[in-house]
Amino acid sequence: MSAQILDGRSIARDIRREVRLEVAELTKRTGLVPCLATILVGNDPASTTYVRNKVRACMEVGIVSVGIDLPADLPQDALLHEIARLNRDPSVHAILVQLPLPPHISERLILETILPEKDVDGFHPSNLGGLLAGSPLFVASTPLGILELLTRSNVAIEGKHAVVVGWSVVVGKPTAFLLLQQQATVTICHIKTRDLGFHTRQGDILVVAAGKPALVTGSMVKEGAVVIDVGVNRLADGSLVGDVSFPDVAAKVSLITPVPGGVGPMTVAMLLKNTVHACRLACGGASRGGVESVH
Ligand code: GUN
Repeated sequence: MSAQILDGRSIARDIRREVRLEVAELTKRTGLVPCLATILVGNDPASTTYVRNKVRACMEVGIVSVGIDLPADLPQDALLHEIARLNRDPSVHAILVQLPLPPHISERLILETILPEKDVDGFHPSNLGGLLAGSPLFVASTPLGILELLTRSNVAIEGKHAVVVGWSVVVGKPTAFLLLQQQATVTICHIKTRDLGFHTRQGDILVVAAGKPALVTGSMVKEGAVVIDVGVNRLADGSLVGDVSFPDVAAKVSLITPVPGGVGPMTVAMLLKNTVHACRLACGGASRGGVESVH
């Protein structure tokens, strides 16, 4: 079998087109223009690129973005004050603090400080808990993007065995719960899992988000599986690879995401959707966004 490519770039383009129309309609009806504040602490090159891509995507669809760049040695209290200011500002509907943060800042504390109704990353404990309960205000953009990629590619999820490699709050855990919500049977593995290949070979749908190049090889996947590679690893030669050894896995499975051009563009597209949802919440025009009706 030779896999078909799950083209995240093209699906994300469709979503951005839809969001542009939604923004225009929302602004016409309410007079509000959705506004996302991005906070970047320090100048990590990958984080800088990610934030730049998010800001550019906002501009393209008519979302206002406020970029706040802060120095790497910023005291934690100063960042907390900045977030409190954005929480109070009614013209800011959505707040995103790019991770990772410098080691002297507690990510947990920072993420807990963002108002849940402006938490478009879905990392606030009340949104993470809401995902478990089936009624979060926001779900993290990458897991939402994975679900959207599968749905728009007509991959049936119900009753399938989904294996998620990675336990992060950003990707692994919320992806596992989203797939469970869609009635998949879900296995969560991680870097410490013994005999990882035994588990990954059970996966009709395999999501790999472990941050380790070539962690999953051809002998570790089920024939005909659907493989979502969330990894973004920069090699010494400057090339970008995922967590999946692409050539040997693609030879065996039915659908696979490329890196780059798979999950990455979907993350940005879903952030835009979440920002529109935040604006709707602010003007009282949205109900709690259950994951059955993922926005
Ligand atoms: N760092 C890596 N992925 C993400 C993400 O989805 N959101 C934020 N805020 N930081 C990240």
